[in-house]
Amino acid sequence: MEENPPTRQPNRRTDLLGVHSLDHFSLTVPDLAQAESFYRTFGLATADQGSALGLYTDGHPHRWGSLTEGPAKKLRHLSFGVYADDLPRFERRLERLGVPRLAPPPGADGDGLWFHDCDGLLIELRDAQKSSPDEKSRTHMPVSPPGVRCAPLRDETTEVRPRRLQHVLIFTRDVNRVVEFYARTLGLRLSDQAGDVAFMHGVHGSDHHLLAFAGSDRPGFHHCSWDVSSVHEVGLGAMQMADQGFHAGWGLGRHVLGSNYFHYVRDPWGSYSEYSAAMDYIPCDMDWTARQHQPENGFFLWGPEPPKDFAVNGESDQWA
Ligand SMILES: [Fe+2]
Repeated sequence: MEENPPTRQPNRRTDLLGVHSLDHFSLTVPDLAQAESFYRTFGLATADQGSALGLYTDGHPHRWGSLTEGPAKKLRHLSFGVYADDLPRFERRLERLGVPRLAPPPGADGDGLWFHDCDGLLIELRDAQKSSPDEKSRTHMPVSPPGVRCAPLRDETTEVRPRRLQHVLIFTRDVNRVVEFYARTLGLRLSDQAGDVAFMHGVHGSDHHLLAFAGSDRPGFHHCSWDVSSVHEVGLGAMQMADQGFHAGWGLGRHVLGSNYFHYVRDPWGSYSEYSAAMDYIPCDMDWTARQHQPENGFFLWGPEPPKDFAVNGESDQWA
């Protein structure tokens, strides 16, 4: 068995085997130049990496996303970071569970473990630095003393630059089945569930969710979410995108499950990038109690009604 006696290490549950981070996501998109324009306007840094476009945030060496060109937008794989000495333990776990190992896809770097999830989505486990936060993200509410204007003039505002990837939400054919799969294989834990939407966190200190699922008739990518420092930045980010023609989306609002303030911007392929602030945090030494909620009670606390097509999965079910 993989359970060990608990010992204390910062941001590591040595009594549990689980991934520590969502390392990166990989998408194909129909036009890399269009992708570069969208994500740069969003406030990310991009880098040409051969045939791929890497997504970065300022002051952070980590690559959060990798995009390649293809006939349509499609989620190619999700990669999760694990502690180096856990990799062989994961290998044994996958073998014991009868999850077949796969060869790395063409162009993949590293010596990760590759396999399919229960929907056929390609998953990698790799030895990586922990890129999920070790503490709750610091957020602030800009205020000024009496007699001083707090808000900058429009032409004095600085560009919103997200700090890191916070989470990804993907579509799945069966939410309960996929939650069970990711718990059993990756050691993720259910944080909360509302109808056919479920949120999972890592056991080594994690945001309320680093991965979320929504029910659909096929797999697909719904959104990536990026941490910013304030509700002010969530709103400014929305304006930053609208000023460049990216008006469509949903927000400003506040989610219930995760508690984050949000604004989603629709990307050129019908999925979304989310500005997110003040997400709940689940410390490494805490066992969060997962709860089931009514969908109407757990989706959002306040904000405009979401667009009618917000939860539409526009992705083809062909994984090739
Ligand atoms: Fe989100």
